Amino acid sequence: MSDGATARGSATEREEARKIAEGLEHLSGFGNEHSSEAVPGALPVGRNSPQRAPLGLYAEQLSGSAFTEPRAHNRRSWLYRIRPSAAHPAFTRTGNGALRSAPFTQTVPDPNRLRWNPLPEPAEDTDFLAGLWTLGGNGDVTQRSGMAVHLYHANASMRRVFSSADGELLIVPERGGLLLRTEFGMLHAEPGHIALIPRGVRFRVELLDETARGYVCENYGAPFRLPDLGPIGANGLANARDFRAPVAAYEDVEGPVEVVNKFCGNLWSATYDHSPLDVVAWHGNHVPYAYDLRRFNVMGTISYDHPDPSIFTVLTSPSDTPGLAGVDFVVFAPRWLVGEDTFRPPYFHRNVMSEYMGLIEGAYDAKAAGEGGFVPGGGSLHNMMSAHGPDRETFDRASAAELRPQRIDDGLAFMFETRWPVSLTPQAARAEHLQQGYDDVWQGLERHFRPLH
Ligand SMILES: [Fe+2]
Repeated sequence: MSDGATARGSATEREEARKIAEGLEHLSGFGNEHSSEAVPGALPVGRNSPQRAPLGLYAEQLSGSAFTEPRAHNRRSWLYRIRPSAAHPAFTRTGNGALRSAPFTQTVPDPNRLRWNPLPEPAEDTDFLAGLWTLGGNGDVTQRSGMAVHLYHANASMRRVFSSADGELLIVPERGGLLLRTEFGMLHAEPGHIALIPRGVRFRVELLDETARGYVCENYGAPFRLPDLGPIGANGLANARDFRAPVAAYEDVEGPVEVVNKFCGNLWSATYDHSPLDVVAWHGNHVPYAYDLRRFNVMGTISYDHPDPSIFTVLTSPSDTPGLAGVDFVVFAPRWLVGEDTFRPPYFHRNVMSEYMGLIEGAYDAKAAGEGGFVPGGGSLHNMMSAHGPDRETFDRASAAELRPQRIDDGLAFMFETRWPVSLTPQAARAEHLQQGYDDVWQGLERHFRPLH
């Protein structure tokens, strides 16, 4: 329960949060109809909105899709809460910090390959929201299309509550565990896990370690779903049962709570006289969830060549064109490489899609690691049709390697792959942590062509 204290960061508070996080129960599945009640009898039976909801609660629907979208894609949940969400004072504009939104028009879209080091250390008392820093994105929040790439670096737990009306937030921790207190209950996410907060859902982030660092994809478009599996069959990639939804847990707090709402690119704040995380029971399929990326069932070749990296898609946000995602979330998880007569690292590539890559731990098999390279917490952007692929060192090594079965197990990288180019924010284009000379990794790729031999 919130104690209404200022930003929380003491070791005791972190220990308390960790104890809670590690003891959490959860519901299993993706996109299914869940239901949960923190107090027995809080969920109405046989109807959503009885004349008087049980236990004196208010019934409220949260719609994640239009009422009339096809059943397979329809998302909504019913919340039974101490006060309805409508019981709040007016929101007023507050500072956006380093958070930015689409359309991103302040820089000229850049065709160059770009790579960043991790974000610098945050100022004292920086919570998750204040620690959000936008790299860039595409689309338009008012059209509910496109996405933004944010990074975060925080050293304090939130005492306020946040939600984004602009999109769902896919959180990819790279350093430091998180306890996410949401309207639906609590989720635990460590580096190597992902957590998703649906559009409009209010939540607070508490830190389980001294600092927390990672990535966020704010998806303005259709909610992420599991990709179709086609000839793969009924199982594989991210299995639905491995997704964790929270069980209902509520805060019964009277007293001032700051609630920040991201709406059409700006932050708006209101001080409630109670916590909005006051949902005692809920049911539905529009829910927050977490997933351990190490549960990903990795598929690959057992003959030659390697499939396109779409084989590593965890979640996809489809567009109106079949197969053309607004954004895909793709993971490069530990796996075996066994391809015969195959150049095994990711191939040289020019892509109509734009690729933002991040590294959660270790190294990525197409890029040398270490200082000035592709490092955990850093990221690279290969925009539409920009040529990329293994660096010189990786090419030389992989071209000469003996092709024994090889285990790739020292890294966890991911990609936000999007249909439109990613335009940068001015802060990303001019960042001190933007690496200079990234192009050099492809210098010295020697000419080997011999027309006659
Ligand atoms: Fe690529």
